[in-house]
Amino acid sequence: MKRPILLQLAILGFCSQVFSQNKLVVNADQGGETISRHIYGHFSEHLGHCIYGGYWVGEDSPIPNTRGIRNDVVQALKDIQIPNLRWPGGCFADEYHWMDGIGLRSQRPKMVNTHWGGVTEDNSFGTHEFLDLCEQLGCEPYITGNLGSGTIEEMSKWVEYVTFDGESPMSNLRRQNGREKPWKVKFWGVGNENWGCGGNMTADFYAGQYRRYATYCRSYGDNQLYKIACGPNGGDYSWTETVMKNVGRQMQGLSLHHYTVPNNWTDKGSATRFNESDYFSTVEKTLLMDELVSKHSTIMDRYDPQKRTGLIVDEWGTWYNVEPGTNPGFLYQQNTLRDAIVAAVNLNIFNTHCDRVKMANIAQTVNVLQAVILTDEEKMALTPTYWVYYLYKVHQDATLLPVSLSSNKYELNGKKIDAVNVSASKDAQGKIHITLVNIDLNNAQSVEAELRGVKANGISGKILTSAKINDYNSFESPSVVGVKDFKDAKLSGGKLTIKLPAKSIVMLEVE
Ligand code: AHR
Repeated sequence: MKRPILLQLAILGFCSQVFSQNKLVVNADQGGETISRHIYGHFSEHLGHCIYGGYWVGEDSPIPNTRGIRNDVVQALKDIQIPNLRWPGGCFADEYHWMDGIGLRSQRPKMVNTHWGGVTEDNSFGTHEFLDLCEQLGCEPYITGNLGSGTIEEMSKWVEYVTFDGESPMSNLRRQNGREKPWKVKFWGVGNENWGCGGNMTADFYAGQYRRYATYCRSYGDNQLYKIACGPNGGDYSWTETVMKNVGRQMQGLSLHHYTVPNNWTDKGSATRFNESDYFSTVEKTLLMDELVSKHSTIMDRYDPQKRTGLIVDEWGTWYNVEPGTNPGFLYQQNTLRDAIVAAVNLNIFNTHCDRVKMANIAQTVNVLQAVILTDEEKMALTPTYWVYYLYKVHQDATLLPVSLSSNKYELNGKKIDAVNVSASKDAQGKIHITLVNIDLNNAQSVEAELRGVKANGISGKILTSAKINDYNSFESPSVVGVKDFKDAKLSGGKLTIKLPAKSIVMLEVE
């Protein structure tokens, strides 16, 4: 039977929408840049129940702990190979006086945490406890010094206290406080958000202050400091320009902060109750990270073509309205499959820009903003975002493989974004890992992939998804969103066909 031409065209159009394939090329024989493991870093501030309750329960707690630090949280973070931890803030850092947090706990002075709920901070978690935590985690510490309200002398003495091996007033004080050997602390932040909570400075003023403070942050012995300057707030390109021009080689890293806020700062939106349009806008705003990193990198390239200064995305993640009934100053929010998609997309972006992005730190590890872990007294839940770190740990210190992708579009209300998002790497054993995100909420995406320059012998995979985009893991139901084996990747004649379910994250391993 001959169909009318219009009907034939309609059928063709329908078919191309449903069956058109996304095309991916992975250049497995190319690539020279290493994906620093520090891209998988974390940020933990004295904020809400991140430090207190999240990590620190005290030595006398019935919650199993080692020297006051909870064992379940440490084990969970070791399982995702946490490479570094940034502390003590955030905004808290520029109000923190480190000497209040050393010595006998019972004698430490208290302070008011003015940024975060106005609660009294008893300083029971200080320098020794933080560095003990990092040793238990097997990760590198990243300390942010107080440039906003502290003195140059104070910051300089902190570096001496933690890293100097010889005889000095500060190293002797450290010994008196029970630590004979210095710690290794490489990453040192010289202020935080000094354009805002860290002193409301202009870029010019900050650059001058940075030069003074950083001069007296000494590298003792073989502890070579990697100093990180306060960088821009999102798209403030003139901040980057000014700091790059005026600070130059006196810094090793320049930070960038960008949060994903679905609506606006007054009403950010709910973490769990959202519709497709909220979801779409969340992903759209996440994708802005690619533009931010690219444009700041372009400015950095002009001053530093050899890419010696790292772009350090040391605060990123989703920021919603706090959970109803919780302290507004504690920034406690639930974490759904939507957050996992946000994390997976951001990490793919950082991997792709690993020539310039040398570190990134999700905000914040436990109980605050886009947490990977939630706790309530002795209970602990691992969020969907946690499982992204679990899947993506294969990229740590692997070689980035260049990819090219032509993706179908995910459309809503006349707006379009690429449905598929990807990054790929090759590890020291020669295994290739491809992490794919199907952002599309409603449609599966079929990807036809070509692996150039390698003969693939086998493929396996893992998937993170759930029935609903707003599914989350609670203390009562901790395994709603979790990782499962993925069987929908087929190798045939050197070609790889992958069927990604809607709203899913897939990690493939090719041998
Ligand atoms: O992560 C919460 C806050 O966000 C940090 O303290 C600050 O640096 C940023 O504005």
